[in-house]
Amino acid sequence: MEKKLLVTSALPYANGDIHIGHLVEYIQTDIFVRFQKLIGNNCTYICADDTHGTPIMINAKKQGVPPEEFIAQFHQAHQDDFKRFLINFDYYGSTHTDENRILSEKIYHAAQDADAIDVRDIEQLYDQKESMFLPDRFVRGQCPKCNAADQYGDSCEVCSATYSPEDLVDPKSVVSGESPIKKTSTHYFFKLAQFESVIQQWLESDTVRPEIKNKLQEWFDTGLRDWDISRDAPYFGFKIPNTEDKFFYVWVDAPVGYISATQLWAASVNQNFLDFWKNDDVEIHHFIGKDILYFHTLFWPAMLHVGGYNLPTKVNIHGFLTVNGEKMSKSRGTFITARHFSDHLNPEFLRYYYAAKLSGSIDDIDLNLTAFMHKVNADVLGKFINIASRLGGILHKKCEGKLTTIDDQGQDLITQIQGQSEAIKAHYNDLAFHKAMMAIMECADWANKYIDDQAPWSVVKEDADKAAQIITAGLNACRLIALYLKPVLPGIVSGIESFLAIEPMVWSDGDRVIEDHPIQPYTHLAQRLQTEDIERLNLDDQD
Ligand code: 2FM
Ligand code: ZN
Repeated sequence: MEKKLLVTSALPYANGDIHIGHLVEYIQTDIFVRFQKLIGNNCTYICADDTHGTPIMINAKKQGVPPEEFIAQFHQAHQDDFKRFLINFDYYGSTHTDENRILSEKIYHAAQDADAIDVRDIEQLYDQKESMFLPDRFVRGQCPKCNAADQYGDSCEVCSATYSPEDLVDPKSVVSGESPIKKTSTHYFFKLAQFESVIQQWLESDTVRPEIKNKLQEWFDTGLRDWDISRDAPYFGFKIPNTEDKFFYVWVDAPVGYISATQLWAASVNQNFLDFWKNDDVEIHHFIGKDILYFHTLFWPAMLHVGGYNLPTKVNIHGFLTVNGEKMSKSRGTFITARHFSDHLNPEFLRYYYAAKLSGSIDDIDLNLTAFMHKVNADVLGKFINIASRLGGILHKKCEGKLTTIDDQGQDLITQIQGQSEAIKAHYNDLAFHKAMMAIMECADWANKYIDDQAPWSVVKEDADKAAQIITAGLNACRLIALYLKPVLPGIVSGIESFLAIEPMVWSDGDRVIEDHPIQPYTHLAQRLQTEDIERLNLDDQD
């Protein structure tokens, strides 16, 4: 039976370019969504820019533009970048909308009604020159534990200690460079502990992987603390109702963006967003990185619960990207933006490489550009596209460009490849894309072995009909492999569909074969990677 799914990726901050680290998540989600659509499920992919908070306010100011204009630039740039990587959102919104404000306020009022909001004074570091309270990351000073100089206000990069900014020795404001003072201010708190049993129960229903559940258990064991949901003016965000100078912390309205973007999408297709967020028949799947686990598995379910919405069915958590085994870094030249990558290399190749690495676990994945080149050349070009280019040529030159029938031996190959369908499907569903890619490449190995053994280029000299049968089997194998790869390589597979002169395939098309069918001449579908391509990526400046 057809399933209904609402799928999201984390909302990127409208504060910088999309880079290859972000792309791990968007590619992972996009493959999952394309797969769901391919097998006939009703799946909607929603995302948006995350537009509020102090860093955005400060960067807009530095650029000398209003924050609205600043975030608008990124809204366009992000969408362009995602398009290059064939990330196919059904809707890409923004958290800076009236819809998002209204829904955020509603959840806040519901929390007030449930007596889940507390108001009390706290002391914080304050920059007198800029007249603003300083978020932890906007204070730097000497680590109180190991004395390392110039550390952030929340943690030390040298000894990994965590602390609060007031503990720093000789703290300085990152904004003005001045020494901050301590100042009292009234803050609003969300009483998270009130929702402990709701969250615990939700976690019982297979929402996260067991290793994550264990990690969460540690947080429950230490006790859920109140969450500070307010920030003082100046702040770029939504004002808290019935206050003059208090704003919702960006992490309040950011996830609400999942709902408000659904609302705007639903309105555009004549549907009601509540049929997605208050409907037990819909599965909600979030894809996030491990750094924002806390927000999505504690605060967010509590907010949804208090607001009367359904809780997510799954929170899928991935690890970080390393490049050549290390954290991406500007100085090492491994901080590669989506735009720069796609200016130099075929974006679909990155989709394939990530798919071959993604297991659904929280382990980090590594991009080594030399390994990337070899992997893509060996698999995508050598094993897959090569079948089409080799056989397409002979069929057109010697067999009138027409597929004929499949003989018994050819049928054995086809049956063997069709036999992988259920396993590959299960791997995609489980986010074990690495296993799916291995299984598909095994199919390609079988197909290539069959073609090498049958050698249609020799057979054609004696018996063109027999050669056409071999090619028919070979190209049907190629068609099935293309179908299996379609969630990962949608552009290249669309090229294969044109070459085979067939309609866009869906999963169930894998049950049949195409015979007695004219096809198009093979035209080039992708270029082998050369060492120089990789070198150019490294050498050319990123703008
Ligand atoms: O960590 C981040 O990049 C956030 N912008 C993610 C927000 S996800 C959602 F909750 F809005
Ligand atoms: Zn330290």
